[in-house]
Amino acid sequence: METQTPERKKIIFSAIQPSGSITLGNYLGALKNWVALQDEYQCIYALADLHAITVRQDPAQFRRHALEAYALFLACGIDVEKSLFFIQSQVHTHAELAWVLNCYTQFGELSRMTQFKDKSAKHPENVNAGLFTYPSLMAADILLYQSDLVPVGADQKQHLELARNIAERFNGLYSPTFRVPEGYIPKVGARIMSLQDPTRKMSKSDENANAWIAMLDKPDDIVRKCKRAVTDSEACVRYAEGKAGVNNLMGIYSAVTGKDYEEIEREFEGKGYGEFKLAVAEAVVEELRPIQERYAKYIADKAYLEECYSAAAQKALALSSRTLNKVMKKVGFLGRG
Ligand code: TYM
Repeated sequence: METQTPERKKIIFSAIQPSGSITLGNYLGALKNWVALQDEYQCIYALADLHAITVRQDPAQFRRHALEAYALFLACGIDVEKSLFFIQSQVHTHAELAWVLNCYTQFGELSRMTQFKDKSAKHPENVNAGLFTYPSLMAADILLYQSDLVPVGADQKQHLELARNIAERFNGLYSPTFRVPEGYIPKVGARIMSLQDPTRKMSKSDENANAWIAMLDKPDDIVRKCKRAVTDSEACVRYAEGKAGVNNLMGIYSAVTGKDYEEIEREFEGKGYGEFKLAVAEAVVEELRPIQERYAKYIADKAYLEECYSAAAQKALALSSRTLNKVMKKVGFLGRG
């Protein structure tokens, strides 16, 4: 009988910074997709804690946040039997490749990154070199695993494009070394906006806590934040230009319930924003309730968490070392024996 080689499963890589609370934006823009992709692809996910120190972190809090984020991602449905889910700082190949790639990334390219411009404007007292070269580290994360697809929210598109350019440049200079990855940006949820200023993205670094929903927010807080969400004076639930606040709430509702915009418009025809906001809040609360319940169990079991992330780090090191070794050889470093 003829034996067929099974088709290679495509490789997915993505990461999230564990600084502070994980938001509903992170969840709808990235995490929810991460979970959904696990059966079809070989998924590799990381907590990008090396990225997080581009902004000052309190050491005790930083450690706690990493552990909480790890537990939360498991609670969201990241399955360590199916996917590799590790902590970036525990896999030294990331920092090593990042250095090499820094030398193949142009100052001009990094200067154009809008996130760098935004963050340096926000923290003028600490515009460090890490903040500037951060996209090379992100490129290293992705390229180490020969990733095909990178599921991210819309705000990471520019960084991803740079990662592709770096990969192509390196491949062109030497010989094919890195697979050039594609972005995987969801149709709804890719850009969840601030509830207080819907022209800006929802971000955990927003000083106004009413602007964002954290994954571990209590139901009452979620209801309050949704009720206070900025809308407009038209009092009509429809998706249209000039209605950024309502569009954003519709985006959240759609990403959570799976209903499209037309269905949502029909559902709320003739109804006011009060009712709509409450429905959005309830849908979010129901989506988060089982996650929060599972989170409470995971975070209470530190030994299990350590077992998971330690095993994952070992596997990630073995996988990523293959690419790093190739890179070192091609650049001309002496072998490590
Ligand atoms: P981070 O930690 O800022 O965000 C993690 C993921 O959440 C998405 N996201 C959003 N999606 C929709 N609406 C929002 N308001 C929103 N805010 C955040 C982001 O697009 C992202 O997908 N540099 C990355 C982390 C990273 C990474 C990587 C990602 C490090 N290495 C390699 C992909 C591949 C970051 O800071 O994401």
